[in-house]
Amino acid sequence: ISDMLIDSFGRIHTYLRISLTERCNLRCHYCMPAEGVELTPSPQLLSQDEIVRLASLFVSSGVDKIRLTGGEPTIRKDIEELCLQLSNLKGLKTLAMTTNGITLGKKLPKLKDSGLNLVNISLDTLVPAKFEFMTRRKGHGRVMESIDAAVKLGYNPVKVNCVVMRGFNDDEICDFVELTRERPINVRFIEFMPFDGNVWNVKKLVPYAEMLDKVVEKFTGLQRIQDHPTETAKNFRIDGHQGSVSFITSMTEHFCAGCNRLRLLADGNFKVCLFGPSEVSLRDPIRLGEGDDKLREIIGAAVCSN
Ligand code: GTP
Ligand code: 5AD
Ligand code: SF4
Repeated sequence: ISDMLIDSFGRIHTYLRISLTERCNLRCHYCMPAEGVELTPSPQLLSQDEIVRLASLFVSSGVDKIRLTGGEPTIRKDIEELCLQLSNLKGLKTLAMTTNGITLGKKLPKLKDSGLNLVNISLDTLVPAKFEFMTRRKGHGRVMESIDAAVKLGYNPVKVNCVVMRGFNDDEICDFVELTRERPINVRFIEFMPFDGNVWNVKKLVPYAEMLDKVVEKFTGLQRIQDHPTETAKNFRIDGHQGSVSFITSMTEHFCAGCNRLRLLADGNFKVCLFGPSEVSLRDPIRLGEGDDKLREIIGAAVCSN
């Protein structure tokens, strides 16, 4: 345990989120402006070798779950090779990905062979026209196909992330729950978080209690599942449904105390908390030729100071 990454709150960090790219093939209103985000020049982004080297250091310090995120992680050309290298790290138990599902259906068989063993797919609406409005792109059908492809390939559960926004999709909550009847998917309703610069203000937030009321009104036999302490979602089973339903209460009930996540950004900056301002570059010391012990020390110090 002495080699593990423990912060000043006593939280043991065993879960690393790696953002593989800032790019995305969608332009969701709450995440990006129509023209996209300003991109870090590519020489300043981590290379495949640098990502794998850093990941291996984290794994040797106790990380056993890595989640690949973006932007959209599947648009990296080397995504399969990266998954293969990461899934081969000794000590890693779970290699997961959060994706918008636009190109996932096509790529998933190979990604599965490369060791990807969990997928979370983002989908905020079941209505194609609303999808096109929210993401400023077409592709609703492809996301639905990706969800089905993941189920067919045996991913269980396939998590579907639905950010709930008042006046946009709060009328679709029960339709999303209905998806879980015949499919082994876990639909997760996420409270909308107002970030700096996102034009969707707090009036769009639909609190957990209100979402739950809507579900209870329509579906009988909802049972709370005992959650793991590091779980950020509140999970429920529903009688007769193959899948399950969860709520991520980022706004109304913080889950900071149990948070075990670390974050490595595409430019090699490292941070502990999503909302914390402090970031430390791991790319710079790597490129200065620092050895593994020094890098582990920098990582350990950054976690400790949190
Ligand atoms: P699992 O490993 O399946 O639990 O995935 P996850 O929920 O950690 O990751 P995912 O990428 O699917 O994110 C789902 C939602 O959780 C998104 O809205 C994230 O912004 C939010 N989220 C993830 N980590 C944190 C966190 O540390 N704090 C807060 N407040 N929200 C988070
Ligand atoms: N509030 C809540 N969830 C968000 N996501 C992106 N922006 C927000 C926000 N402002 C979700 C995406 C994806 C996950 C990684 O984060 O929809 O499912
Ligand atoms: Fe942002 Fe995800 Fe939408 Fe891409 S799919 S624009 S990363 S929220």
